[in-house]
Amino acid sequence: MGEETCPEADAGEGVRSRAEAGVTAEAGAMAAAVATEATVAEEAAETVGAAAAGASTLFDGVSFGSLRAKNRFVRAATWEGLATDEGRMTPELLEVYRELAAGGVGTILTGYAHIVADEQPNPRMMGIYDDSFVDEYRELVDVVHEAGARLVLQVAYGGSATRLDPPSKRILGPSAVANPKTGIVPVEASEDDLASLRDAFAAAVRRARVAGFDGVELHAAHGYLLSQFLSPRLNRRTDAYGGSIENRVRFLAEVVDACRNAVGDRFPLLVKLNCADERRDLDDAAGVGAPSVCTTEADAGASGANAAAGDAAAAADAARVEGEASTADVSAAAPAAPATAETPERGLVPKESLRVAAVLAEHGIDAIEVSGDWHAFSPKECAGEPFFASFAARLARQVPVPVILTGGNRRFDVMERLAREDGIAAFGLCRPLVCEPDLVNRWQKDPHAAPRCLSCNGCNSTPGHRCILPPRR
Ligand SMILES: Cc1cc2nc3c(=O)[nH]c(=O)nc-3n(C[C@H](O)[C@H](O)[C@H](O)COP(=O)(O)O)c2cc1C
Ligand code: SF4
Repeated sequence: MGEETCPEADAGEGVRSRAEAGVTAEAGAMAAAVATEATVAEEAAETVGAAAAGASTLFDGVSFGSLRAKNRFVRAATWEGLATDEGRMTPELLEVYRELAAGGVGTILTGYAHIVADEQPNPRMMGIYDDSFVDEYRELVDVVHEAGARLVLQVAYGGSATRLDPPSKRILGPSAVANPKTGIVPVEASEDDLASLRDAFAAAVRRARVAGFDGVELHAAHGYLLSQFLSPRLNRRTDAYGGSIENRVRFLAEVVDACRNAVGDRFPLLVKLNCADERRDLDDAAGVGAPSVCTTEADAGASGANAAAGDAAAAADAARVEGEASTADVSAAAPAAPATAETPERGLVPKESLRVAAVLAEHGIDAIEVSGDWHAFSPKECAGEPFFASFAARLARQVPVPVILTGGNRRFDVMERLAREDGIAAFGLCRPLVCEPDLVNRWQKDPHAAPRCLSCNGCNSTPGHRCILPPRR
């Protein structure tokens, strides 16, 4: 099948700059809605009225650019492992989405989909690497829309973070540095490779649009390729893509631009971003982290190793981490990260992540989903409070893009407060919806309902990533 064309795409419009417009995060979302859809603006006005009247903010609608969702709950991307080996839909996978959509969540992010046929971070994930997927996904889109939810495709390139066994033949990365999780040493991507990757992301996003998805999220968190470029630990390049945070964000910004050019100004593009790559950097060194994360035995070991790192590396790290810099002055404070094998460095730190978010806003991103830590989710001791709430609150204040907070959202009242007081636009839920796909409906009936999910991570190793608990009676 040849490359399909997208008659709606308005590639000539270029990218938007809401940051230049000087709007707030809330207003940024509203402004986009006003610009694109008058009816959406009316709904937004109702939303403000409802919140002022004391109604639950969480069941108000929310906009991510031109995407309008019925509530502020988002199913965070969850690799189900239920596609075929080639990434094709199966009846089981369709059923997962039918159940989720019926369960009340406003927006569903799919499990990550691979954008290149021979590169796959995990087995049996979804694919979007050629045009034959377009027709296949129409049924999925219809199933979700019929139940009143929105569907956003998450796309990823794994690079050295792959868990596929055997891994893809030619694994690209920012630099030929061993991945700390897999040990895989990727091939340093050449300029031609980078161009191919940009094209692959853009083609995937265009296919998603033609298939009817309501948006696409670029996975730039959790140690996959886009997040590797942001990390000075894995990105040791000395060209325009490495060194300062301004350089390290360049590839992601170029991917965003390529996608925007492929689908036009109105198609929602989201990014999932780590607020920090390492748990120790979530300890508020820059006044932007401060989530209540716990320490596990594995973490304690890592901390010990980190403590043994040389003084020079620690000093360089401190220069990147500390200080109450605004997003505007982050780049000035960030050194060029002269990493060597002898000075193991931290990954992305909160202050830099704020700068990345500001750049993404300048490049017209419609929402940023905040995650963190290369392990993506924390063990059960951490459950109860959102992991990255204080970073997300600061991001919402500083960057004019709706913020989706993901990780550890378990309590309705906490989310309600974060929405009202800190301007968090929406809340991602992964494991709670694995456990109870209808949790949002349950919350609508009883906001005090406690989710059943124990955050035990058992579902991370079951076939189809099913919950290990018996079904609710
Ligand atoms: C089984 C499983 C699969 C996941 N797959 C993805 C994925 O495809 N893409 C992604 O960005 N995050 C993925 N995550 C991470 C979640 O989206 C989320 O960031 C994390 O689980 C924290 O949210 P929670 O506390 O609500 O579970 C996955 C998590 C689990 C447990
Ligand atoms: S297996 Fe554990 S973490 Fe996963 S959904 Fe069930 S209770 Fe939650």
